[in-house]
Amino acid sequence: MASSTVRPADQAGPSGSTTEREAARRLLDSSAKLSYDPATEVDWDTPLDDGFHGMSPEWSTLYGTRYWQEMTEAQRRELTRQESASVASTGIWFEMILQQMVLRDMYAKDPTDPRFQWALTEIADECRHSIMFGRGAAKLGAPAYRPGRFVLELGRAFKTLAVGEAAYASILVAEEVLDVMQRDWMRDERVAPFVRTINNIHVVEESRHMKFAREETRARLRHAGPLRRHVQALVVSLASYFIVTSMVNRQVYANAGLDTERALAEARANEHHKSLMRSSCSGLMEFLASCRLLTRPALAFYKRAHLI
Ligand SMILES: [Fe+2]
Ligand SMILES: [Fe+2]
Repeated sequence: MASSTVRPADQAGPSGSTTEREAARRLLDSSAKLSYDPATEVDWDTPLDDGFHGMSPEWSTLYGTRYWQEMTEAQRRELTRQESASVASTGIWFEMILQQMVLRDMYAKDPTDPRFQWALTEIADECRHSIMFGRGAAKLGAPAYRPGRFVLELGRAFKTLAVGEAAYASILVAEEVLDVMQRDWMRDERVAPFVRTINNIHVVEESRHMKFAREETRARLRHAGPLRRHVQALVVSLASYFIVTSMVNRQVYANAGLDTERALAEARANEHHKSLMRSSCSGLMEFLASCRLLTRPALAFYKRAHLI
């Protein structure tokens, strides 16, 4: 393109560089080519077949424990269905936080910018996802699983206050953690077919969100000084800690007919689950390290959440 035809907004400026605009344009094209309507894609009508798991059993918080050995196959399936519904419900909680952060970030920005249009497309995706997860949890026979009062209130503050790289890096962590699990579940024939469809839809659409979150995290950090980077790194690690530790609600055990205290104790000590989380999150941790967001205090929270 001749330089005389380049509009001021196409050059690097507050709305982002040309490269970032092009990246957003590609995401919009990809979304136009491949997006799903869960209302018609997912089999909502066939009644739940309790011969299926809700997630790959290896992802259960109790898999590999003594308690797991003592459970019948039917109990294991009920537990993974409740755990899967809990993960989906935590997903809804975070998607509502995410939608508000992105909407705030785009407030009064240039609507002709592909980044603006992509951000609104992502919000529309998340809106469909949350409805899909809600219907999925209901079909799995689960109640409303929500994080505890303290975490709910922290989330309320976070969605109102988080900006820039802290918002986008936290979005990335939540999306990546969900992604690694769902990639396994969508291929697993032991998992209920409608859950596999839900996971497949989510994996496809989230891969674009994760690209955008990575781009935005890098772009926002480009001019960040050391103090800001340190503060934001800690905020992201705290958000990650509360998201990951809220994924499986303690009520899932009682709802699967188990003794909550024993299940919690064995889940907390479950080395299999911890190492699965660590190995699944290695790519994410490499990315955070490359952005220099793995500061020493942040690292402590990732370790506590068994992400590294
Ligand atoms: Fe989503
Ligand atoms: Fe997303």
